[in-house]
Amino acid sequence: MLKAICSKKDLSLCAYYDCICDIINSCELEHLKDITHHISTTRFQHCLNVSYYSYIVCKKFRLNARSAARAGLLHDLFYYDRKEYNSMREKGQFSHSRMHSVIALRNAEQLTDITPLERDIIEKHMFPMTIKLPKYRESYVITVIDKYCAVLEVCIPKICSILSAHQ
Ligand SMILES: [Fe+2]
Ligand SMILES: [Fe+2]
Repeated sequence: MLKAICSKKDLSLCAYYDCICDIINSCELEHLKDITHHISTTRFQHCLNVSYYSYIVCKKFRLNARSAARAGLLHDLFYYDRKEYNSMREKGQFSHSRMHSVIALRNAEQLTDITPLERDIIEKHMFPMTIKLPKYRESYVITVIDKYCAVLEVCIPKICSILSAHQ
């Protein structure tokens, strides 16, 4: 079952799925299931969370929900461990926060066709760290949803463990 954090829906049965069905089962995204992200989730689950909630918000505001879903799913398509990157980083090289969106975009372009809107979303999703301003409203939606999902992913397992310890 394909589920986003805090949602009970099976996403493979929703209209959302039509937007990402050609890429969701790719080896590249499968690989993200083996990588830990935000302490207690996987990079795949994080990308799915961002993709689904960005789709919902963009649909609500009549923005390009399809591109939001696709770019959301691909926005963190990189395979290295961020701690390793930061420890091996050479002088003058971009920090992980700025570098991974460039790598994710390159990987996404190898996987599928990327529209200018999707390119902007992936490239600028770390705004304001990217310095360059996002060009589209959808890009701003993803920057906010990305941070919102990160907070949920870190806090919910912690809250659950605190609550279960007091039962
Ligand atoms: Fe990211
Ligand atoms: Fe992210």
